[in-house]
Amino acid sequence: MFSTTQTARVASFVLFSLFLGVKASPSVPRATTCNGSPDLCDRSFGNVTFVGAHDSYAVGINNFATNQDYNITQQMNDGIRMLQMQTHNQSGVIQLCHTSCALYNGGPLSTYLGTVKSWLDANPNEVLSLLIVNSDDFPPTAFDTVFKSVGLDTMSYAPPSASIPATQWPTLGSLIDSGKRLLTFMDAEADFTSVPYIIDEFTNIWESPYDVTTTFDCSVNRTKGDSSTEMYLINHFLDTLILGEPAPDPSQANQTNAVSGTNSLGAQFDLCVSEYGRNPNFMLVDFYEYGGGSVFEVAATANGVTYSPTTPIATPIPQGSSTTSSGPGSSSPSGASSSFSQWNSVWMVASGIVLGAWCVV
Ligand SMILES: *[C@@H]1O[C@H](CO)[C@@H](O)[C@H](O)[C@H]1NC(C)=O
Ligand SMILES: *[C@@H]1O[C@H](CO)[C@@H](O)[C@H](O)[C@H]1NC(C)=O
Ligand SMILES: *[C@@H]1O[C@H](CO)[C@@H](O)[C@H](O)[C@H]1NC(C)=O
Ligand SMILES: *[C@@H]1O[C@H](CO)[C@@H](O)[C@H](O)[C@H]1NC(C)=O
Ligand SMILES: *[C@@H]1O[C@H](CO)[C@@H](O)[C@H](O)[C@H]1NC(C)=O
Repeated sequence: MFSTTQTARVASFVLFSLFLGVKASPSVPRATTCNGSPDLCDRSFGNVTFVGAHDSYAVGINNFATNQDYNITQQMNDGIRMLQMQTHNQSGVIQLCHTSCALYNGGPLSTYLGTVKSWLDANPNEVLSLLIVNSDDFPPTAFDTVFKSVGLDTMSYAPPSASIPATQWPTLGSLIDSGKRLLTFMDAEADFTSVPYIIDEFTNIWESPYDVTTTFDCSVNRTKGDSSTEMYLINHFLDTLILGEPAPDPSQANQTNAVSGTNSLGAQFDLCVSEYGRNPNFMLVDFYEYGGGSVFEVAATANGVTYSPTTPIATPIPQGSSTTSSGPGSSSPSGASSSFSQWNSVWMVASGIVLGAWCVV
C-alpha cells in the first residue's frame, strides 16, 4: 500500500512528467545556424547559391584526368556543398571513375559515401548535395543499396513529388531540423516511385554548357523540365584541348575562379543574373581552392552573407610538384621524380589514343 505522502509524490511526479512532456515538443531545438549563417535557416534550398566540386573524386596532380587537388573531406571543410561525381560499372560494383576506370579509378562509391556520412555526422548544421552522373545506367535501387550500407538513406531528403520548382524546396533550417540534410540528384535513371530520395536532375535543375574551352555563357544546355522555374547549375570549369579532347586546365584556374575579370566565375554569375533575373543555384568548379576562396566569396555575396572561413582554405598544389596526391585506387602511375610530369603526359597521351573517344567531362 502507498502512504498518502507516497501517493502525493507519485502523482506530482506524473503531473510534472506530463508537464515536461507537453513543454518538450515545442521546445525541440531549432537550428540557429545553417550552412554557416543564421540568415540561411529560413531560406528555401532553392534560393541559395552553393559551390560544387566538379568530378569531386578525381583528385590528384600531374594527371589530365583529375579535376581537384584535394579530397572531398578537405573540399567540404573548405565550403564545397555540392559533390559531383561520375559512376561506372566495374564488374558489377558502382565505382567512381573518370570516363573509364582504366583512365582514372577513384574507388568504390561505398567508400566515398562513407566519407560523406562521417563528414555530415561531424557537421550537423550543414545541408549537402550530391550530383551523380550515372554513366552506366545503374537502377536507383542499386544506389539505394549502397546508401543504406553506409546509413545515408535515412539522412536523405525525399521531395513530395518527382520535380519541384525552385521556389518550393524546404528551408535549410527545416532540412537540418528533420535530419534529412542530404539531397541527391542523378542525371539518368532516377525513379521517384522506386527510390524517392534519388532526385531526377534535369526535371529539377537545368545546366549551362559544359566542357567549355573558350568563353562561358549562360544558355540552357540541358534540361527536361521548365527552365523558367527549375533551379539551375552553371558549369564553370575551363578545359583545354589535348589531342582535340577537353581536359581540365589548372594553369588558368586562378582567373577562372576569380570574383571578377574576363571569364571569371563572378563574370559568368553576373551574366546569368542579367539574363534570368535570379542567381544560379549551383556553380561547379575545378581546382576549387585556386583563387584562395574566391569561389566561396562569389556564393556568399550571392547569398547576402559574409565569407568568413573558420579555418584557412587549402593552398593550390602546383602542377609538376612532387607531392602527388592521387585518389584511392587510382590507376595513374604514382611516383615523385622530377620526370614524373613528363612521363605522365606520355602515359596520358597513350591512354587517349588507346581509349579512342576520350571525353573528359
Ligand atoms: C584528406 O586530405 C586531408 C588534407 O587535406 C588529409 O589530412 C586527410 O587525411 C585526407 N583524408 C583521406 C581519407 O585521405
Ligand atoms: C555491370 O556489369 C556486370 C558485369 O561486370 C553486369 O553483369 C551487370 O549487368 C552490369 N550492371 C549494369 C547496371 O549494367
Ligand atoms: C550542350 O553543350 C555541349 C558541350 O558543350 C554541346 O556539345 C551541345 O551542343 C550543347 N547542346 C545544346 C542543346 O546547347
Ligand atoms: C595562383 O595564384 C597564387 C596566389 O596568388 C599563386 O601563388 C600561383 O602561382 C597562381 N597559380 C597560377 C597557375 O597562376
Ligand atoms: C533568392 O531570392 C532573392 C530574392 O528574390 C533573389 O534575388 C535571388 O536571386 C534568389 N537566389 C536564388 C539562388 O534563387
